[in-house]
Amino acid sequence: MIDQQIKAVIRDIHDFPKPGIVFKDITPILKEPGLCNAIVDAFINQLNGTRVDVVAGVESRGFLFGLTLANKLGVPFVPVRKAGKLPYAIKQKVYELEYGTATIELHTDAFEPGQHVLIHDDLLATGGTVTAASELIQEMGGIIAGFSFVIGLNFLNGKERIASTSNKIIVLAE
Ligand code: PRP
Ligand code: ADE
Repeated sequence: MIDQQIKAVIRDIHDFPKPGIVFKDITPILKEPGLCNAIVDAFINQLNGTRVDVVAGVESRGFLFGLTLANKLGVPFVPVRKAGKLPYAIKQKVYELEYGTATIELHTDAFEPGQHVLIHDDLLATGGTVTAASELIQEMGGIIAGFSFVIGLNFLNGKERIASTSNKIIVLAE
């Protein structure tokens, strides 16, 4: 099963980036092309025909599988970036992380109003990042197609936080 394959290769790094945090290091996944392909295939299977017009991947680790997923779905990929990185006109949102605060931004022409946007990230912790992304996308006229993550940290209740935004929440390993 894909969840067991993912869990077998990711590693826990204690006290990174701050004391008390157990950081899930996904970089070993990236060294296994077969597993990377299986992850993207699992997302496509679990989307099960859900309408997706655009995939929005969250910086930076959400870019890793987000672009490949969009390519395989045959739809555009748009980057949700941290403050000051996008060169064109932007809209932004401030949010809280498990370990600090941050600002995310999207290009104003990332998608058209009424398009169905899938929000993708590597990991769901508190859900603060993707909640901010979903609010920003909705303020810009987008419809949330769903959320996809490689890993979910259940003890932080991120799924509960985003459940009211979409009932399509894909978490491959939790
Ligand atoms: C991590 C992760 C998610 C977010 C999850 O990103 O990749 O984007 O935190 O946390 P949340 O559910 O509590 O919002 P991070 O800010 O560490 O940045 P990175 O992807 O650039 O390493
Ligand atoms: N993002 C937020 N919390 C995280 C964690 N514990 N491991 C990896 N990425 C994270």
